Amino acid sequence: MKDGPSLILALDLKNLDEAETLLSRVGDMVGHIKVGPRLLLSGGPRWVASLTDKWKVFLDLKLHDIPNTVKGAVEALCEMGIWAVTIHIAGGRDMMSSAIEARSSGNPLLFGVTILTSLDGTGWRTVSPGSRMDECLKARASLAADVGLDGIVCAPTDLPSVREVIGSRCVTVVPGIRLASCLDDQRRTSHPSEAVRMGGDFLVVGRPILESPDPRGTIDRIKEEMEAGWCCRKADL
Ligand code: C5P
Repeated sequence: MKDGPSLILALDLKNLDEAETLLSRVGDMVGHIKVGPRLLLSGGPRWVASLTDKWKVFLDLKLHDIPNTVKGAVEALCEMGIWAVTIHIAGGRDMMSSAIEARSSGNPLLFGVTILTSLDGTGWRTVSPGSRMDECLKARASLAADVGLDGIVCAPTDLPSVREVIGSRCVTVVPGIRLASCLDDQRRTSHPSEAVRMGGDFLVVGRPILESPDPRGTIDRIKEEMEAGWCCRKADL
């Protein structure tokens, strides 16, 4: 990554009014926004497509289904003009290849989810008994890079392992960013500077901005930390 990291604002809000209010307050400070299923369902595809005039829209649908169904979903998404969409690497090689074949002229970008950042060791053992989280993480990241996905979504704490197997073949997209320690559902978190220093290219931030009494000030702080992390990363090279 040559130009430095970018912040993606996760629009995890209840409805369109809240989303539009937030965008009117801070939309000029970000180039990328992430829209999840909730806003897609309340606003509809046309509303999401209308955002693409001003922002690079990352639709976080985390597709995970049989190859033919994922292919159909990606074909439908091509018409919306979005920048990127997520698919679960756990869906396997054929599912990812179908998604790649289904898009037109390399759009949208396809980002593969390795393991949700809300899963800690205990949560992992419940859903994947007998398998090691670190091995699974590396296997999934490596497979996604081999198949040709454009990016890997992973926890900040997973970045060293992910970078080890993907090298510079894909960008990394990193949620679980926190400015201070907090007690929510994220389990494997880091500060913005640390996440960038460890190889994060796009940092996805929701609640630290959405719940801040001063969202503009919080974005400024996150960007400053990202810049500091980027300086360290360049120096480390
Ligand atoms: O509020 P917070 O900063 O935790 O938001 C993180 C965002 O990143 C959420 O929208 C969540 O759905 C998303 N995400 C994640 N872990 C992944 C992939 C996406 O937290 N592995």
